Amino acid sequence: LASIRVDVSAVNPGTQLTVLWQGKPVFIRARTEAEIAEANAVDLSTLPDGLSQNANLDPTADASDANRALSEDGVWLVQMGICTHLGCVPLGQSGDFNGWFCPCHGSHYDTAGRIRRGPAPRNLDIPVASFVDETTIQLG
Ligand code: FES
Repeated sequence: LASIRVDVSAVNPGTQLTVLWQGKPVFIRARTEAEIAEANAVDLSTLPDGLSQNANLDPTADASDANRALSEDGVWLVQMGICTHLGCVPLGQSGDFNGWFCPCHGSHYDTAGRIRRGPAPRNLDIPVASFVDETTIQLG
């Protein structure tokens, strides 16, 4: 798989960069402290999809916020911008859980990109990603 490198130096907390990778949108979000706290406060047993859906981890890893975030401080969240229902592009900072909202059929994702309400069956997929230096993320 072809990889790309993305400069995230201009992405401030509370904002999101959307890049195209392999023809698909990828959301790169720098989360605020409040968004991280909200994601950590969720009881995992209440999640419709209890798995991390993180290609960087074992497939059985749970959907804790630590398993969703790219960085240990929890700030960076990198995920495919493709609704797991039928593939629409969800809107950021939207929906009942302050994360993403897919307007096609009403799926609500939380601040960790986990499905919380609506027809989508899975959390937003997290692609293979890593920091190559402090301000550069490699996808793939
Ligand atoms: Fe997102 Fe159906 S494609 S809710």
